[in-house]
Amino acid sequence: MRQPLVVGNWKMNGSRQVNQTLLTEILAGMDSVTRCQVGVCPPFVYLAQTQAQLADSRIAWGAQNVSPHAAGAYTGEIAVNMLQDFGCTYVIVGHSERRSLYGDTDALVAEKFAAVQAGGMIPILCVGETDAEREAGHTEQVVQRQLSAVLTSQGIASIANCVIAYEPVWAIGTGKTATPEQAQAVHAFIRGLLAAEDSAIAEKVQILYGGSVKGSNATELFAMSDIDGGLIGGAALKAEEFLTICRAPE
Ligand code: PGA
Repeated sequence: MRQPLVVGNWKMNGSRQVNQTLLTEILAGMDSVTRCQVGVCPPFVYLAQTQAQLADSRIAWGAQNVSPHAAGAYTGEIAVNMLQDFGCTYVIVGHSERRSLYGDTDALVAEKFAAVQAGGMIPILCVGETDAEREAGHTEQVVQRQLSAVLTSQGIASIANCVIAYEPVWAIGTGKTATPEQAQAVHAFIRGLLAAEDSAIAEKVQILYGGSVKGSNATELFAMSDIDGGLIGGAALKAEEFLTICRAPE
């Protein structure tokens, strides 16, 4: 049985003071989180602070992006070994905001995915369709294309050591959540694609849902058979709300 996982994607939010309070409050509530694995992904500059505060806890941490390059003249970029230096477990790759605002292509996302795994960390691979793509009936086609970029270059074996996050772009930060049935259908489609190549790996991989998950809708989403937890944006910035989501799979 897959263990549920809830990861907070803080995006470009926080400050030393705000993070200190948020992490203290989350840590204080962790006793009642019994089944779920938990992680947080702060902005790069707060990884040291996060590591210091979470070092002796059950909460893992990670980054929101990474360079595919190992080192060199890449002004403003952060390399895999730097994230290892700060004890990261996870690295989000291919978030829709990276794809739409910063030009992360399927090929670049696959390179980042490979770099993260080569560095001994776990990529959280985000896939998901836009509103227009869903309206046009292209949801499965888009998700398959995004997944194939990794599968063809890295092979099915690479999926054994990653997390997949299905995040319909139209549900991110909009308050418009996919229904549990809509999300489940795409999760089952993703697992089916993987199962066609290796059923054991498909059965094992955690597939998270992301897009306006809140304390009030997490339970019904996580109750679906192929939804193994969530990638949480806005609601990850409020300790009580985030903890309610982490307790949802109990
Ligand atoms: P949201 O963001 O929960 O604020 O919709 C989710 C995400 O972008 O990972």
